[in-house]
Amino acid sequence: MPEITFVQFHGARETLDVAVGNTIMFAATSHGLEGIVGECGGNAMCATCHVSVEPDQLHLLPAMTDDEDALLDGTAIMRQPNSRLSCQIHVTPALDGFVVHVPERQI
Ligand code: FES
Repeated sequence: MPEITFVQFHGARETLDVAVGNTIMFAATSHGLEGIVGECGGNAMCATCHVSVEPDQLHLLPAMTDDEDALLDGTAIMRQPNSRLSCQIHVTPALDGFVVHVPERQI
């Protein structure tokens, strides 16, 4: 399974094996990982699954939808150019070694 590494705001890192097809939000919340809330259950309605990705890995992701782009304007911590909603990132084999940074807070 692809390995996804989560880097907390305070620097702690945790790597999870994530089944292909699952979202990064689902992987995080189902493992009780700190810092990703996923309040809407992955329906792209809450923005509490905000993460930023390594700039050099951004090209591995599909382009964001207009809905994701609009929601990222309402995150608790201001969006960055490499911000994404983790519920909109479906893990593929190409994401093995992918790194996401968890913001200081989601609400
Ligand atoms: S879980 Fe709500 S927008 Fe991602």
